Amino acid sequence: MKPKILVLYYTQTGQLRQILGSITGPIADKVELFFVPIEPVTPFPFPWTALQFFDAMPETVTHLPANVKPLPASAFEHDYDLVIFGYQPWFLNPSQPTTAFLQSADARILKNKPVVTVVGSRNMWLHAQEKVKDYLLKAGAKLTGNIVLSDSNPNLVSLLTVIRWSFKGQKEASGMLPAAGVQNKDISEASRFGQPILQHLTDNNLIDLQRALLEAGAVPLKTGLVILEQRGIKNFRFWAKFIREKGGPGSPARAGRVMMFKNLLLIAIFILSPISTATALIQQIAKRNKLIKDVAYFRQLEFEPDKM
Ligand SMILES: Cc1cc2nc3c(=O)[nH]c(=O)nc-3n(C[C@H](O)[C@H](O)[C@H](O)COP(=O)(O)O)c2cc1C
Repeated sequence: MKPKILVLYYTQTGQLRQILGSITGPIADKVELFFVPIEPVTPFPFPWTALQFFDAMPETVTHLPANVKPLPASAFEHDYDLVIFGYQPWFLNPSQPTTAFLQSADARILKNKPVVTVVGSRNMWLHAQEKVKDYLLKAGAKLTGNIVLSDSNPNLVSLLTVIRWSFKGQKEASGMLPAAGVQNKDISEASRFGQPILQHLTDNNLIDLQRALLEAGAVPLKTGLVILEQRGIKNFRFWAKFIREKGGPGSPARAGRVMMFKNLLLIAIFILSPISTATALIQQIAKRNKLIKDVAYFRQLEFEPDKM
């Protein structure tokens, strides 16, 4: 009998579905694949207005997401050998539909299952993955692999293109700027992860899967990212609380604070960025050994609460 793999995911633009299709493509005739999308009750807008986009931050960061639809009953009819769980970070946390699913009763579908997470990000996914690890533990799942795809362009370039993509809906290259998101070449080359997944599954050796995935380059990670995320998440937590004092999602009373957050974030990114990059570099040198340890930790699957 062919192994059964559940591929569970949320995607707004279809990028993550493409990534998952690429990873599973080479093994599609050797396993039974069940693709099940997670769907919000009310879809998030795309393209977003700036207000809609930044208004999604507080509930994303505080893990109070908008509801998702229940999974179809047919998803529960099979006993899966593996779950591939695809998600994307929003504001350094799992996207709202991902969190909503992981908090829902349907997360029982993960119980006692080995899970490979697949992250489709711009490039800041560390804190989100820590949260997902925690939810998986609570659901009784066993994390057995992690594959991360990010935009390989320089940080500021990927920020400019993600802004064009989110607010204009344009992923394609234009002017001096490349295409947004995970580059097409990286999406198609993700097919290299399919074979190790199948091999370790059929050999009953999932315990060794992450080593093989890492050898295939599944988790590219630079030390600078650890510092940037640690700084970012502290600020987001502050702003999330400050904005929520004025009301819930979409509340006109909080629009002023949302736009204040947006403006300060853009100033921090584009104007203060050279300064923060310099201080991050100094920190990188001063805390070199700790950061090397941190990078090794984030490439692996263990979960230490409050690591971020
Ligand atoms: C509201 C929002 C916030 C995002 N925040 C982050 C982030 O913190 N880190 C990151 O690497 N990417 C971030 N992204 C990019 C997404 O992780 C993802 O790569 C992109 O939205 C495409 O995913 P899709 O498959 O859902 O279309 C964000 C995207 C959105 C829409």
